[in-house]
Amino acid sequence: MKHDIFTAKRLLLVEPSITLVITGKALERRDAGDDIMILSAGEPDFITPKYIRDYAIEAINRGFTHYTKTAGILPLRELIVKKLKEDNNLDYEPSDIIVSTGAKQSIYNVMESILNDDDEVIIPSPFWVSYPEIVRLAGGKPVIVDTEDDGFILTAEKLKKNITNKTKAIILNTPNNPTGMVYYKDTLEDLADIIVENDLLCVSDEIYEKVLYDGKKHYSIAALGEDIKNNTVIINGFSKAYAMTGWRIGYAAGPEFIIKNCLKLQGHSTSCPSSIGQAAAYAALKNKNEEFDNMLATFDKRRKFIMEKLDKLEGISYIRPEGAFYFFINVSKFYGRKGVNDSLSFCNFLLKNGNVAVTPGKAFGMDDYIRISYAVSTAEIERAMIKFKKVLEMLVE
Ligand SMILES: Cc1ncc(COP(=O)(O)O)c(C=O)c1O
Repeated sequence: MKHDIFTAKRLLLVEPSITLVITGKALERRDAGDDIMILSAGEPDFITPKYIRDYAIEAINRGFTHYTKTAGILPLRELIVKKLKEDNNLDYEPSDIIVSTGAKQSIYNVMESILNDDDEVIIPSPFWVSYPEIVRLAGGKPVIVDTEDDGFILTAEKLKKNITNKTKAIILNTPNNPTGMVYYKDTLEDLADIIVENDLLCVSDEIYEKVLYDGKKHYSIAALGEDIKNNTVIINGFSKAYAMTGWRIGYAAGPEFIIKNCLKLQGHSTSCPSSIGQAAAYAALKNKNEEFDNMLATFDKRRKFIMEKLDKLEGISYIRPEGAFYFFINVSKFYGRKGVNDSLSFCNFLLKNGNVAVTPGKAFGMDDYIRISYAVSTAEIERAMIKFKKVLEMLVE
């Protein structure tokens, strides 16, 4: 078989995941018996709270094992409506909601539903790895806008500058993966004015909304007024706040016609999200998550511990994260030494010499940086920070 003939052209535009390269190597070495610390995870190390697991097991045993409505079961969408009202002060109907196989499918559905060839989507950098690739797969063109000089926050001026007559959408992510930055209300208001003025769709990925520190508050851009709400699709899910990555449940809330187009697509791709995953998500929202405060306090303790260590290291810089569970660290001062000249070679050096796996910033659009995740055990973080320091010292020897 000729590989080029049997490879779809649109796939040639998509990069394989660099994040998996390092994690793959790290896992291989761990399997071979090496003591490897993996700080590249994008998921909580906690398991799904017991009340959710118990309800899902009970759902299996009562035979809740069939296809559901394409949009997801009504009781779950009703609870999502309630959540959006209570947490975000937003009014939606169940028909404005589609539940999908993870927030990733929700974003994919939206992009496939709105984009025609070469439509542009503005993506502030650094970004979650999959945004540009999803846009490309859907036939669109990602327009990457660097936010480093503005403290990793997209300003209204920069947004305005990058709008062309082909711009169709913008993807906002607050709290942000990989920087942990949170968009404040006044910035969102300025962005909202421009989005509405130019009739763009704002895809607002709020999956980390509950993972906030130092008393920070999450604002959904859609809650800033009826006009911006009409131009926004909210993306959210259960992976992060409920430690439910493997259940694969996320959702989109937005203008009914966009949700209807997503339904068309979902109906012919995955039919519906898993019934058991939906039962678990229903339980998650129906009851109070008593374990959440403990999870957040643990993340915060780890965050403070890492900050304390990083603050003592020479040659690196980072911005204090306000949400999510990552540090985005500039390590470019070490480039040009011992074969390290970009984020991937830095990560390879760290893995080889320190047994620590972290993610190269290139995956998020910024090659001067690495991302450290603290969604791993405190003991692993403590050991990893000692090794990290040693490897930096090795690089300047
Ligand atoms: C910013 C962001 N959005 C979306 C997702 C996808 O989440 P899900 O597990 O619901 O597909 C992730 C997962 O890492 C993420 O970091």
